[in-house]
Amino acid sequence: MSDEARPPRTAVVIPAAGRGVRLGPGAPKALRALNGTPMLVHAVRAMAASRAVSLVVVVAPPDGAGEVKNLLDAHALPERTDYVVVPGGDTRQESVRLGLDAVPEDVTTVLVHDAARPLVPVDTVDAVIEAVRDGAVAVVPALPVADTVKEVEPAERPGGPEQVVATPVRARLRAVQTPQGFDRDTLVNAHATVALTGEGATDDAGMVEKLGAPVVVVPGHEEAFKVTRPLDLVLAEAVLARRRATDGF
Ligand code: CTP
Ligand code: MG
Repeated sequence: MSDEARPPRTAVVIPAAGRGVRLGPGAPKALRALNGTPMLVHAVRAMAASRAVSLVVVVAPPDGAGEVKNLLDAHALPERTDYVVVPGGDTRQESVRLGLDAVPEDVTTVLVHDAARPLVPVDTVDAVIEAVRDGAVAVVPALPVADTVKEVEPAERPGGPEQVVATPVRARLRAVQTPQGFDRDTLVNAHATVALTGEGATDDAGMVEKLGAPVVVVPGHEEAFKVTRPLDLVLAEAVLARRRATDGF
C-alpha cells in the first residue's frame, strides 16, 4: 500500500495508573473487578471495539506494568488491535505524557480515555474519532449538567461553610467525559508546553485550550460516567447486568 492509500492511524492512550483513593482501600482502581472482569479490561475492550482504533497504549501503575501485561494476555481482546503497556507517573498529566511517548510517529489521531470509564459505548468513541478526522484538533464528549453548579471560595477546613462566588448559567455548562480526541501534534505540543502544577491537569482538552487552540464538544453518553466513588461500582455493575440481559453479552 502506498503512503497516500494508507488510512490515518488512530491510537488510544488509557491512563490507568491512579490509586483510586476516593473508591476506598484496595487494589489500584483500574485493576478492580466489575462483574468479575478488571475495570481496565472493560475499558480496553470499549476502545478496541472501534474498528478505527489500531493501537491501545495502557499506562499502568508505576510498579505494575508487568502485572497489567499479564492481565491483558489473560483476557480475550480483538486481534486487529495492537496493545502496549508503559509505566505511569504520579499525576494523570504525567501518565498521559508517558503514554503519548509510546505512540508511533505515523499515528495522526490520538484519543485519551480514562480506565475509570469502562462502559463507554463504541458509538461515542467513533463519533469522537470522526470529528477529529473531519478537521477538529480537539474533541470532547460531554453532557448537560443535571445539578445547578455553584462556584465557591473553598473552605480552609473540610466541611466548613463556603462562600458562594458565582452561579454559572446551567444551560451553558457541560460535564466532560472521555475519550477525548486530538490531532496528535496538537496534543503532544500541549503536553510539552503546559507546565505541571499541583495535581496536574485532569482534562487534556483543557491543556489544548491553554495553547489557544479550538476545542469542540460532541454529545457524550450516560454510560461513559467515571467510576470514582463506591456507589459508582454499583451503577457500573447494574449497567453490565442490563447489557447481559438485553444482548446476552
Ligand atoms: N490516572 C493515571 N495516573 C495518575 C492518576 C490518575 O493514569 N497518577 C488515571 C486513573 O487511573 C484514571 C484516570 O486517570 O483512569 C482518571 O483519574 P481518577 O478518576 O481521578 O482516578 P484515580 O486518580 O485513580 O482516583 P482518585 O483520584 O480517587 O485517587
Ligand atoms: Mg485522581
